Amino acid sequence: MLSPADSLAPDWLVIPDDANGLADGVWPASAHRDADGVIVLGGLPVDEIVRAHGTPVLVLDEDEVRARARAFHDAFAAATAHHGTSARVYYAGKAFLSTAIARWVVEEGLNVDVCTGGELAVALAAGVEPARLGFHGNNKSESEIERAVSVGIGTIIIDSAIEVERVAAAAERAGTVQRVLVRVNSGVHAETHDFLATAHEDQKFGMTFADALTAVARIRELPSLDFLGVHCHIGSQIFGVAGFRESAARVLELHEKLLAGGEVPLLNLGGGFGIAYTSVDDPTPIARLAAEIVDSVAAGCAERGIPLPILAFEPGRAIVGTAGVTLYEVGTTKPVTLDSGASRLYVSVDGGMSDNARPALYGAQYSARVASRTSTVAPALTRVVGKHCESGDIVVDHEYLPADVAPGDTLAVPATGAYCASLSSNYNHVPRPAVVAVAGGSSRVIVRGETIDDVLSRDTGISNEGAR
Ligand code: LLP
Repeated sequence: MLSPADSLAPDWLVIPDDANGLADGVWPASAHRDADGVIVLGGLPVDEIVRAHGTPVLVLDEDEVRARARAFHDAFAAATAHHGTSARVYYAGKAFLSTAIARWVVEEGLNVDVCTGGELAVALAAGVEPARLGFHGNNKSESEIERAVSVGIGTIIIDSAIEVERVAAAAERAGTVQRVLVRVNSGVHAETHDFLATAHEDQKFGMTFADALTAVARIRELPSLDFLGVHCHIGSQIFGVAGFRESAARVLELHEKLLAGGEVPLLNLGGGFGIAYTSVDDPTPIARLAAEIVDSVAAGCAERGIPLPILAFEPGRAIVGTAGVTLYEVGTTKPVTLDSGASRLYVSVDGGMSDNARPALYGAQYSARVASRTSTVAPALTRVVGKHCESGDIVVDHEYLPADVAPGDTLAVPATGAYCASLSSNYNHVPRPAVVAVAGGSSRVIVRGETIDDVLSRDTGISNEGAR
């Protein structure tokens, strides 16, 4: 039984009344338990998903992705229309990109932001109109730029003076005029619950305002480039609007200066909108977020007496994060009791830091539920860990699960749609799991899982036939 005095639980973790419950906002809207207590996702009980696709598997709820994409589109459209301008929302593909999701978000009215030749290739393979793509990156290669320009990409977000010349030369070779933005560093760095404003951040992205002025002057001299506006992105998993407002206020100062030299029709404020990973996270609803950010940019423009530009945003995590649930099979459980008497139950699953690096990389917190059944047994403090040969291989650092959680149970970890598959690796030669889309009671593989042969295939000492 739990002894709170000895508990290794962090202060924020509440002992649940029901360790089978699915916290609001952390799971896709379709998630619930059926009459047998099995979690259902997109109309499919997880035991059926596991029978069809095995574990570990990343389940993506298509309707959740579409609903969130639509919500962002509609919220920013309404907020900007209210002030007589319009919005462009780009889905930031780095959060998770496959041809299926690119199609879903475009069908819901979004554009797509890519940041490498690989992401560009996926978006093009999905049939996304090149004009709907934005291309980011602080070190785009010559060939990536060449490809982007030659397919007619909508915008390239320039990150350095060197890139001005590279993009201009590529556009000239292609006989085209390339629309570009210039990425600046507003000096605002936002984190989940707070933001920091510094004179100039010591990081690789963007230019100072002074360098941006020089870069834009140069862009305006070059006939193969068409300057659209300034871009800034202040961080990721941000709650509230204070950081966005502060950053926009600063960037408007530069925007106004640039107006003196010509048109500046657009302002891109980037992405970074936070989601709930555990029941204690409380992200701002999308409609409020959009209204408050746009109102504050409109007020800033009015104060300066300048027209409100078209506003662009780049949400990634907030579109796909909550739509993803990773299913694992529990392999072993092991109580670990410290000398102090405090203890927790280690629950090992058949994946880990190779399919979700975020706890190891960022100390990210997640939650979990036994998905294949309910239990009336009192909760125990657990730590869900993976199968990798590293003690930092943590999937869920702190969670209360029914104390009878056992080998063979399916464990579900919600909010794994963003930056899990896209950050996955083959550490310890573990194959990467499939991504399976669920909707309307059926499932389909949208990214196939790797086989061990896939993983071994790059080792030139293993013949392809013999790889097993
Ligand atoms: N736009 C730009 C220019 C970005 O650099 C990013 C994220 C986004 C948009 C999308 O941000 P989002 O809305 O998804 O927060 N791997 C980290 C997050 C890295 C974010 C990188 N840039 C994580 O797992 O938390």
